Amino acid sequence: MPALTLTNVSYKYKNAQRDAISDISCVFEEGNVYAIVGPSGSGKSTLLSLLAGLDLPTKGEVAFDGDSLAGLNLDRYRRESISMIFQAFHLFPLMTVMENVCFPMELCGVSPKDARPRAETLLEGVGITKEQMGRFPAKLSGGERQRVAIARSLASNARIILGDEPTGNLDGANTQNIIDILCSLAHEKGYCVIIVTHDMEVAEAADMALKMRDGVLHVVG
Ligand SMILES: Nc1ncnc2c1ncn2[C@@H]1O[C@H](COP(=O)(O)OP(=O)(O)OP(=O)(O)O)[C@@H](O)[C@H]1O
Ligand SMILES: [Mg+2]
Repeated sequence: MPALTLTNVSYKYKNAQRDAISDISCVFEEGNVYAIVGPSGSGKSTLLSLLAGLDLPTKGEVAFDGDSLAGLNLDRYRRESISMIFQAFHLFPLMTVMENVCFPMELCGVSPKDARPRAETLLEGVGITKEQMGRFPAKLSGGERQRVAIARSLASNARIILGDEPTGNLDGANTQNIIDILCSLAHEKGYCVIIVTHDMEVAEAADMALKMRDGVLHVVG
């Protein structure tokens, strides 16, 4: 099943000379992991922000389950259908690690009693200890913060996971662990996972690698 369908999508930032995204048509299916590679400035993060409904294309259409995002309530789409792992982690500094992961679940109506054990399982899955769960994000290493951000993004029931360099700060073993988690969500539970990455290990593990160049998306290989 197509999760996201792009039809002749272009995007131009205000005051920009040219399109950051230029006439992209493609389909992202459920059950697959997609890796998007490409040089800095080629439009990768811009593409993710259009998929996430943070902005609408200046031309063309992005559709979710066949419905154009232009006609959807985008706040609701972002909250219920999309999990986003950002290039910067955007953890809440005044909440503990545990609270950071529980918070989005509670926003979606999960009771604190149910949120905590689920958060604990997710955090353990990315190698965060019980002791670290009580700390504030500032008291973690960069890679630990990144793993908390990944656990938090998995806490919602959204079936589309968008990652902007989600393994950028991780060593080989932790990168492999995140790849395994994302692949099993796609292959066993039917999530659609789309990750921007410079990491060849991640690109090779994906079901399909796409290359962005000058705002245009090409299938690799
Ligand atoms: N807010 C903005 N206003 C104007 N131009 C922007 C804005 N954000 C990005 N751009 C431009 O759009 C183009 C694509 O940027 P984008 O952030 O999508 O690149 P990227 O492929 O994610 O790069 P990187 O690998 O460095 O993260 C670049 O030329 C960039 O300068
Ligand atoms: Mg980027």
